[in-house]
Amino acid sequence: MCGIVGYIGKDQAAPILLDGLTKLEYRGYDSAGVAVFDGEAIKMVKAKGKIDNLKSRCNNGESLKGTQGIGHTRWATHGEPSDLNAHPHMNAKETLSVVHNGIIENFLELKEKLQKRGYTFLSDTDTEVIVQLLDFYYKGDILSALVETLRRVEGSYSLGILDADDSEHIYAAKKDSPLIIGISESGNFVASDIPAILKYTDKVIILEDNEIVRLSRDSVEIFNMDLEPVDKEIMTIDWDISAAEKGGYEHFMMKEIHEQPKAIRDCISPRIKDSEIMLHELRLTEDEIKDLKKVNIIACGSAYHAGCVGKYVLEECARIPTEVFLASEFRYSDPVVDEGTLAIIISQSGETADTKAAMKEAKRLGARTFAIVNAVGSSIARESDDVMYTWAGPEIAVATTKGYTTQVCSLYLLAMYMGKIRGTLPDESYAEMLKELLLLPEKIESILSEKEHIQYIANRFSGLKDVFFIGRNIDYSAALEASLKLKEISYVHSDAYAAGELKHGTISLIEKGTLVISLATQEKLYGKIVSNMIEVRARGAFVMAVTNEDNKAIEESSDYALYIPKTHHSFTAVLSVIPCQLFAYYVAVEKGCDVDKPRNLAKSVTVE
Ligand code: AGP
Repeated sequence: MCGIVGYIGKDQAAPILLDGLTKLEYRGYDSAGVAVFDGEAIKMVKAKGKIDNLKSRCNNGESLKGTQGIGHTRWATHGEPSDLNAHPHMNAKETLSVVHNGIIENFLELKEKLQKRGYTFLSDTDTEVIVQLLDFYYKGDILSALVETLRRVEGSYSLGILDADDSEHIYAAKKDSPLIIGISESGNFVASDIPAILKYTDKVIILEDNEIVRLSRDSVEIFNMDLEPVDKEIMTIDWDISAAEKGGYEHFMMKEIHEQPKAIRDCISPRIKDSEIMLHELRLTEDEIKDLKKVNIIACGSAYHAGCVGKYVLEECARIPTEVFLASEFRYSDPVVDEGTLAIIISQSGETADTKAAMKEAKRLGARTFAIVNAVGSSIARESDDVMYTWAGPEIAVATTKGYTTQVCSLYLLAMYMGKIRGTLPDESYAEMLKELLLLPEKIESILSEKEHIQYIANRFSGLKDVFFIGRNIDYSAALEASLKLKEISYVHSDAYAAGELKHGTISLIEKGTLVISLATQEKLYGKIVSNMIEVRARGAFVMAVTNEDNKAIEESSDYALYIPKTHHSFTAVLSVIPCQLFAYYVAVEKGCDVDKPRNLAKSVTVE
């Protein structure tokens, strides 16, 4: 996600802004910019790429004079990485400047309304509608204009604002995207995250949703949306920079596990309006969607596992034959692909060599390509016919968590959207699934609140050499991902098996004390999976079940049970993987492994 820094005080703002943005580089970004008010005008410098590019354009801040300013590192969500799309964004009169972190879900609607009123837009971003709306409502009082603006935007935002009519203040606002205030003798700060300002102060105020801030050089005023003053506690931060970058978590992976509720909200909510899924990214007409003959899902690693979940939900909802390929296999096989094939290319980084090459092969064979990608403007995103961004925000840990769960949720949206158009998903089912889809973030939060139970189990089994994950149907797909998480960060050998396959050979490996983790969320298959659990227990295995919260009967066939909230049977893959992510994490920590950077692995495998 993006990074914001703002400053107003006694010192020159630009060097402080650049330093703060540098401290936010760990969050991942593709462009940056700063704006400084010099007492007469707002001067702005922006640059695609690294902050060094920005520094070189403003002579390390020397060419920007003034003691109040805002800065931004952008992780693109709407609009390619470019100088134009970089923040800050200004109104035509250059009297207002805004930096933004978050997603404005109704920006197209607002943009059209403003364009009808004669506004022109320079960028492809959602953010630009904020500064233009501020301009539209500005009648000399920035706070009132800000309230009018914020009442009309839907989605998440943390904002930094400069007003050229006000040399005494900078402004900020927050909803569903983190923002803090820093207080010091030399001036006051606004930032997305503590690392940006820790060098200057350890006194911070954590903003809550729907709060608006007016900062002067020696005062902090916080208001609610009715512009009534709000009292806030000033906290003293005792983290070091490393802890601050991880939001207080020990590892980026744990931070990103906990970011999943927000990442899934950011992925789903902008694509649902008036109880309908809007998938503008799939530029196929309804007739073209009805005429599709089959789907090929192509990916690597966890993205492949997401595709395995996608197969079930696409075939159930859209009744379209779906085959899932490992990209490294697809490109060297002789697949049956033609114009009636939709090739869904899944990649968090958008740079995986095998996946890129497989996409090219699918295009060459005549398939329509639809990429599900997190990194905006990445190679796969650019080269695919259509692209749907997962909006998970930057993922630092090598082991993907929010990247995977947002890929699965993107496939849910696609399957339901196509099912509705193809007339294969009844309205009642569509509505029930939509309701359940929107509840997933809070259900993940409830699982995360029980993480100590999982830590207890993980500590007990951290010495194991082999772990088996079993499941049937969608649970088997989730087992594949659960197993990969464990082995890639804890180096414990684990394998995932279709539970029905055990008797065809693998059960010979089961001996006393073998840990078998059974994903058992498919109610129609409870009997079958319990039989498999009994089989392995009879041979000495210790069975831990991951099952629905109302399935207490499973305790008769397991040594330990982890429960997930009830949801639609297709959506359990997003919930059941959470305890498994945590299990893998705690085992790896117990073993002293490098959780965020496991040996031999890279975050993006850009070579074959
Ligand atoms: C998963 O934790 C791994 N990082 C790896 O399997 C990853 O999913 C795979 O390399 C695909 O990466 P991509 O999604 O960026 O294409």
